[in-house]
Amino acid sequence: MTPPSPLTDPDIVPDPYPVYAGLAAREPVHWCAGLNAWAVMRYADCADALKDPRLKAERMGEVLAAKFPGQPLPPDNIYHRFTRNVMMYTDPPLHDALRRSTRAGFTRSAHEHYDRVIRRVAADVVAALPAGTTEIDAVPALAALLPVRSAVHAFGVPEEDLGFVIPCVETLMTYWSGPQEQPVELDRLLGLLTELHTYAAELLDGKRGEVLPDTVIARLAASQDDQAGTTREQTVHQLVLLFIALFAPTTPGSLSSGMLAFARNPRQVERFLADPACVENTANEIVRYNASNQFTWRVTTTDVDLGGVRIRAGQNVALFLGAANRDPGVFERPDAFDLDRPNSARQLSFGIGVHSCLGRQIAALQLKWFFVALLGRFPGLRPAGEPLWNENLEFRSLRSLPLSLR
Ligand code: HEM
Repeated sequence: MTPPSPLTDPDIVPDPYPVYAGLAAREPVHWCAGLNAWAVMRYADCADALKDPRLKAERMGEVLAAKFPGQPLPPDNIYHRFTRNVMMYTDPPLHDALRRSTRAGFTRSAHEHYDRVIRRVAADVVAALPAGTTEIDAVPALAALLPVRSAVHAFGVPEEDLGFVIPCVETLMTYWSGPQEQPVELDRLLGLLTELHTYAAELLDGKRGEVLPDTVIARLAASQDDQAGTTREQTVHQLVLLFIALFAPTTPGSLSSGMLAFARNPRQVERFLADPACVENTANEIVRYNASNQFTWRVTTTDVDLGGVRIRAGQNVALFLGAANRDPGVFERPDAFDLDRPNSARQLSFGIGVHSCLGRQIAALQLKWFFVALLGRFPGLRPAGEPLWNENLEFRSLRSLPLSLR
């Protein structure tokens, strides 16, 4: 009998990479009963699958049945209306129309503006640490703060509404992170999803708090009348998706794992401070070294051969981006954090293909400007105790990171 897959063992979360390497060598595509999915470990297989239209992104009906068995919802329920009308869980051509409908918020000139804004915000977050600070828990003190400040200043979430949006998304995320035990009841999740929709609609109509000018939300609100091929309700769904992505643990997870990587590798701090090319490569190398979304999901629409394994139609596939990023066939010395790596940009942490992350440039700007500010002020940062990881492998992030800033 095949032993159970170790991928659902919470003990591997602090360092899943030896487990991935063992699986990649022995059984690079294998059935993981705990995830009810085929787990895919190698770079080429993950990249192929993400680009293969026979694997669909539409999957949230299956997730609902797995998490809340025996509680089907009618087709017009907010859950189905949302998941069947957001870019993340739809396939072309609907996916492409939904993604296009948000493009006003993500143009090149918009990103040039976000670059300046995020640079300032990152500097402010680091400058807020009082002079003489020698030791911090870098998760609450830094990593949790920058994404929130960026959400206000680059995305346009009104400051006064953070107290509503953040807890709402944090509770919804218990559902959105894979088939793990579900601590929150379905009715409560549906209630929060409805509230977030009401809020998003009012925000677009200018009936809520102040949206700062030139932000993603201000641009989306201004472009509403030009939407050909999508409805007003779909615009509201995309905004709700953006809220979830914005306050998910991905960006804080990358900021904190990046701090840990620098603290453990002082030579890389030197390289960062000495060479502008290393600064430019920092975001890619940080997310390659530790993907904060370790795996993503697809469902096969037909029988598919992947990595020499036949996967039957209708099965779940978990693509381990975090394992692909350590594939020795693609990245030399994959377990080294190395800003001089020539191909860090090939990392799969933001996905690839039609669903590649819409927020990747903004997340990369946060990483770049955060480390410019942090390492400029505290080049001697070091670990000051054991880091503590959250138990969730899918959205792998630190709960606590003691750092010495002497
Ligand atoms: C370090 C931070 C982030 C990481 C690691 C990350 C990771 C990812 C990944 C892996 C995907 C592809 C999922 C798939 O193919 O199934 C994705 C998609 C997406 N991300 Fe991010 N993300 C980050 C930050 C953000 C932010 C800040 C936003 C806010 C705009 C965002 C918005 C989205 C959206 C809307 C999609 C769906 C794109 C589509 O389906 O066309 N992400 N992200």
